[in-house]
Amino acid sequence: MTDQRNDDTTHFGFEDVKKEEKVQRVADVFHSVAGKYDLMNDLMSGGVHRLWKRITIEQSGVRTGHTVLDIAGGTGDLTMRFSRLVGPSGKVVLADINDSMLKVGRDKLMDKGVTGNVEFVQANAEALPFPDNSFDVITIAFGLRNVTDKDAALRSMARVLKPGGKVMVLEFSKTDNPLLTKAYDFYSFNILPHMGSAIAGDAESYRYLAESIRMHPDQETLKRMMQEAGLTNCKFQNMTGGIVALHTGIKP
Ligand SMILES: C[S@@+](CC[C@H](N)C(=O)[O-])C[C@H]1O[C@@H](n2cnc3c(N)ncnc32)[C@H](O)[C@@H]1O
Repeated sequence: MTDQRNDDTTHFGFEDVKKEEKVQRVADVFHSVAGKYDLMNDLMSGGVHRLWKRITIEQSGVRTGHTVLDIAGGTGDLTMRFSRLVGPSGKVVLADINDSMLKVGRDKLMDKGVTGNVEFVQANAEALPFPDNSFDVITIAFGLRNVTDKDAALRSMARVLKPGGKVMVLEFSKTDNPLLTKAYDFYSFNILPHMGSAIAGDAESYRYLAESIRMHPDQETLKRMMQEAGLTNCKFQNMTGGIVALHTGIKP
């Protein structure tokens, strides 16, 4: 069971598009929102994204001397925390396909004095430009949803992970409480695009956000995709009623 189709189309939110078009349109979304990305995250989630990220950090097992890859790292929230944990003898690579997001991330981390052990790399999660067995921990937070070939991205992460290392996928997922689902749908499709328009001057990108969440594989499907990518001990933990799930897998 994979997320892929046999033809050259895929989904961009609720639309069927050519795969190359999705890559371009995802790029356009993040070029457009980069400057307001952190502010919108706080406003949209009422700050709860910080808690989801804190739980991810706590469960990462990252410690002094580790080498960590934060792919689709964007504005660097996870990288910033990992940088402190790994210390001067460790290394964190913040990788992202989008140079606007990377620039906002690099500027933010520099402002906060977090750079000594951080490298910034422009890279596509589907074809990571790192040697096999390089990282102790790899995170992808709110990124996998935007990747065209998710199976290729998971395989690429498994390849560059060290044996015994951990992949962590933090992503929007599926709620199973009908009342919460109803409220969440109303919020996503009626309020979010207006917030996007008022604050980031871009309703469309936030409509894409809501649609892309609905199109993303559910918890069990993503778990199977991770297993098929060669990871073991794959499991997930729901947060905020399944609005978000943290999947983890280990490289055997
Ligand atoms: C919603 S942001 C998440 C940023 C950050 N991880 C966080 O949690 O705040 C999604 C990021 O995924 C990046 N992205 C999308 N497709 C990608 C790909 N194929 N490879 C690497 N990064 C990608 C985007 O450029 C964007 O920075």
